[in-house]
Amino acid sequence: MKVSVIYASTTGNTEAMANAICEAVKAAGAEVVFGTADSADKAAATSSDVILLGSPAMGDEVLEDSMEEFFGAIEASLSGKKVGVFGSYDWGDGQWLRDWEDRVKSVGAVSAAEPLMVHLTPEDADIAKCKEWAAAAVK
Ligand SMILES: Cc1cc2nc3c(=O)[nH]c(=O)nc-3n(C[C@H](O)[C@H](O)[C@H](O)COP(=O)(O)O)c2cc1C
Repeated sequence: MKVSVIYASTTGNTEAMANAICEAVKAAGAEVVFGTADSADKAAATSSDVILLGSPAMGDEVLEDSMEEFFGAIEASLSGKKVGVFGSYDWGDGQWLRDWEDRVKSVGAVSAAEPLMVHLTPEDADIAKCKEWAAAAVK
């Protein structure tokens, strides 16, 4: 199984989630395509069996710019794909992630796992949740 873990992160919080997710996906025996939204290979991502995408809440409950660009470019190719979204936030209530999940579903993708959000920097318990989330998403 091939799994893409592609993320954007401005201060390292979503990156820490992505690292834990990548580790768990590898531990599950999958081949991982890992990278940032500004440099990721779009074809490699859309040819994956499962696509796990991370972005912090930015602006006013929107995706970070490079992920908005990356996701916008692959959005039309996600029909029937298993997709999961995750990210870090601060003062909001997760609207950016709910909106993202709605976009994923509206293009006909299948939810690989419920959206996963972590408040600011992931603590040990959050890292454990990221690993559990990833393991469930690639089952
Ligand atoms: C310009 C800017 C806009 C932000 N907008 C939101 C927001 O709309 N909602 C929210 O909950 N947090 C918002 N945040 C907080 C970030 O999502 C939070 O700091 C997050 O941990 C950053 O993750 P990262 O290190 O992966 O970039 C914003 C932060 C910045 C700097």
